[in-house]
Amino acid sequence: MLKIIVILLIIFLIIFIIIGLYCGLTIRNYSIESEKIVSNVKIALVTDLHSCYYGKNMHTLVDKIKKQNPDIILLGGDIFDDKLSNSNTDIFLSNIYKKYPIYYVTGNHECRNTLKNFKEKMAILDKYNVIRLKGDVKELRINNSIISLCGIDDPSISNINEIDNNYKVQLQRVGRKADKNTFKILLTHRPELIEKYVQNEFDLVLCGHAHGGQWRIPGILNGLYAPNQGLFPKYAGGYYKINNTIMVVSRGLSKKRKYIPRFYNPPELVIVELKNKK
Ligand SMILES: [Fe+2]
Repeated sequence: MLKIIVILLIIFLIIFIIIGLYCGLTIRNYSIESEKIVSNVKIALVTDLHSCYYGKNMHTLVDKIKKQNPDIILLGGDIFDDKLSNSNTDIFLSNIYKKYPIYYVTGNHECRNTLKNFKEKMAILDKYNVIRLKGDVKELRINNSIISLCGIDDPSISNINEIDNNYKVQLQRVGRKADKNTFKILLTHRPELIEKYVQNEFDLVLCGHAHGGQWRIPGILNGLYAPNQGLFPKYAGGYYKINNTIMVVSRGLSKKRKYIPRFYNPPELVIVELKNKK
């Protein structure tokens, strides 16, 4: 009897591990209602791609985005990597830029190398008309809704010798400039700075960086470890509401397995639908 129980436990453990290591691209949907939204807006949030491979011509990711048919694509940092070649990200952007408006903010991995290396990455964004937000507000009319899209650099931008590179100054500036009567979105890389974001009364913060805490067990553990948050991170991934600000943290698209593979944490494309609150 004991032998059978042990065998069953081992089988269960093997199945549990195999399912946990599944790394297929998933779509995570969020629906957010606001009186400031007049007509529906669909946002695709792409974060932490780290220039990972998603099939020939990046078709797995590109096809998923096209099937969702978003109004806008937001790139929430670490789209490139500091060690991997830029080519997969270059191919990815080349396949989507004609169809969608694309906005970008820096992540920490884009700021880890030299200024020359950083400029090479930014040149790829320019090639595909991707707009980099570095303390800027863009008032966008999407369908009939008016959105103030704010974006700030990652704090590690200070590693790069750029002018106007203090993220705190950028945050205050966008908070001041954005029209409160419009739906205010902050695109940023790091979730753990939420206390600072909240002070500027954004309706929605979109970010990544935490990679879902790398290891998860749904319903039990929402992430084991995240950079800048440490063990059992509070903002590993998902939906959070702090005062009147909603924050959506993408678990990101990185498939790098150098140290620890993702566990019950498949890479994700986040789709946020903004709807009118009746
Ligand atoms: Fe990051």
